Amino acid sequence: MSTINIAIDGPAGAGKSTIAKMVSAKLGYIYVDTGALYRTIALYITENNIADEDIEKALPAADVSLRFVDGTQRVYLGDRDVSGLIRTPEISMAASRTSAIPAVREYLFDTQQKIARENNVIMDGRDIGTVVLPNADVKIFLTASAEERANRRYKELAEKPDCPSYEEILSDIIKRDEQDMNRAVSPLKQADDAVLVDTTKLDLETSAEEIIRIIREKTE
Ligand code: DC
Repeated sequence: MSTINIAIDGPAGAGKSTIAKMVSAKLGYIYVDTGALYRTIALYITENNIADEDIEKALPAADVSLRFVDGTQRVYLGDRDVSGLIRTPEISMAASRTSAIPAVREYLFDTQQKIARENNVIMDGRDIGTVVLPNADVKIFLTASAEERANRRYKELAEKPDCPSYEEILSDIIKRDEQDMNRAVSPLKQADDAVLVDTTKLDLETSAEEIIRIIREKTE
């Protein structure tokens, strides 16, 4: 029996993961956050001080895997659950750089395809509709203005100690977009057959409803 695959791509901070989680809970699909895989490789490289020229041959030893606990994705380096450790601004930037290395993308390609072959998935990332799942049943390109994405991130972080300023967050977002859209391999771009959803003026619930509507229209 073939599985149903939904690809959601878009820039950092567009709400992909929050919205994809809401939609997958509603539809009973597994939610796969592929950014976490790139973040985990970045953590591995950082922790082990691996030089750029040594990354390719170091990858097989990284032993990155995804596990699903009560439907929630966790990422592992060997037997260590690193799901929390990968969520820092440093790792965000490092992941964006690491993801531009072709050998890293190749290394993670099979992991992503295998999960989609075996499960009904909503997979989010940057190149899911264009490269990883070119035959996905539904492709969504989720975006929002850089200012609105920075604003959301700022609100999320405002309560925490050492919260960066709005300007710092906006400049990080712009830099990451730039890196992700201009790299040579699998750059962030909307697939020709993806439906564009701009969430600049939409709240989470409305965005999720809109995506569920698009998925139902295309799969029922
Ligand atoms: O979605 P995220 O912010 O957790 O992703 C971290 C970085 O990984 C992001 O800057 C780009 C990269 N990435 C990618 O190149 N391809 C993917 N499918 C997912 C993420």
